[in-house]
Amino acid sequence: MSYFEIIGGKKLNGEIEVRGAKNAALKAVAAALLSREKWTITNFPFIEDTNRILEMVENLGVKVARGSNQVEIQAKSIQKNSLDKNLTKKLRASIILAGPMLARTGKVEMYHPGGCVIGRRPIDMFLDGFQKFGAKIKWQDGHFRMSAAKLAGAKIFFPKITVTGTETMMIAAVLAEGETILENAAMEPEIPALADFLNKCGAKITGAGTPIIRIKGIGRNGKIRGGKMELIPDRIETGTFAILGAICGGKIKIKKCNPNHVRAFLVNLSKAGVKFEEKKNELVIWGAKSLKAINVSTHEYPGFATDLQPPFTLLMTQAKGSSLIHDSIFDGRLIFTDILNTMGSRITMNDPHRVTVNGPTDLHGKKIASPDLRAGITLVLAGLIAKRKTKIENIYQIDRGYERIEERLRKLGAEIKRIQK
Ligand code: EPU
Repeated sequence: MSYFEIIGGKKLNGEIEVRGAKNAALKAVAAALLSREKWTITNFPFIEDTNRILEMVENLGVKVARGSNQVEIQAKSIQKNSLDKNLTKKLRASIILAGPMLARTGKVEMYHPGGCVIGRRPIDMFLDGFQKFGAKIKWQDGHFRMSAAKLAGAKIFFPKITVTGTETMMIAAVLAEGETILENAAMEPEIPALADFLNKCGAKITGAGTPIIRIKGIGRNGKIRGGKMELIPDRIETGTFAILGAICGGKIKIKKCNPNHVRAFLVNLSKAGVKFEEKKNELVIWGAKSLKAINVSTHEYPGFATDLQPPFTLLMTQAKGSSLIHDSIFDGRLIFTDILNTMGSRITMNDPHRVTVNGPTDLHGKKIASPDLRAGITLVLAGLIAKRKTKIENIYQIDRGYERIEERLRKLGAEIKRIQK
């Protein structure tokens, strides 16, 4: 068990590079199972969540070769139908493996997936989708078995927009027979990026990145070729580093990012008084002299990402006035504000989806623990502006999504250490 020790108050300056997107990496690993040939995934972040999914596919008998910033995956055959219980409990995205496994082998056994404690995370839309493809599902003692002699293309309308649900059904449909139409699909940039690459490998997907995606299935024995896929930059890292720049800069240049993927966030950042300059793959952020309180509501892409709500809430503790933050997607994502309050912020929870932040407030260092990934990185940022020392435990949660974050922050001048207990 290790923890972070942070001495706050240092002005940060310099450059920081954004890694490949965690949530693209997880789905690319799953999609690689559609092919018997080798997929090379570049710009691959080696973080706890991606390490877990690689372990899960290795357990299925799939060959995995880790390189520097890239991974090779070759699923000549899938030798097992069941996913490891402990790994499944650690990673919600493990459900995405069910799609290609079902499509390739016709059988899947797995436990209800776990993951971040950010609210209820049901899997009803996944199970409904698999059933529409013709799968039979049996529940027994907290785990379920699915079987399907073959997958038949289906028309699936998602009653609620689901990112991983859209990706899982899109991947499964590639090896189904006949056409699948996904309606009210998620539009996150990771989805068209994956569809483009799958199309290069022989899939027939149109409309990814819009609410209606059509997939012409090539059947279980159809061929998806191998190839090299470069992951898009992590838009949540991009936004998180932008807030870092606003509250701790100096001047921070964020490299290898795509500002277009965080447009709604940048519009709000600007409204709050943060000055930045953007180029195609770069953002330069200046430390804000005075911040304005603004109201923000999260939304599915292209709206303001729920994953950027925690750091934005922190930003608002430094702004003058009262700001209403509404997380419309998850009902447990604002609980971390209690921890910020122990550090000196003045945040009132109105209901599980809404808080009011009154600022500006000075934060002071504390011994705290990271409740989940995005709240965890927010507490790191809070520690960097707090007076005196902050100790953050349960940093596995932060390592799930940010590669060696302390080393990257130290390069900007931050005083942060990982201490092994
Ligand atoms: N939902 C259902 N039933 C389902 C599936 C989802 O009711 O079968 C609900 C969820 O409870 C939630 C809403 O639908 O209220 C949207 O959830 P979604 O399925 O879109 O979330 P997800 O795919 O599980 C991904 C990211 C999250 C990110 C959300 C929203 C991955 C692996 N995870 O989750 O990322 O917050 O989309 O954009 O892609 C993170 O990276 O920290 C993270 C939590």
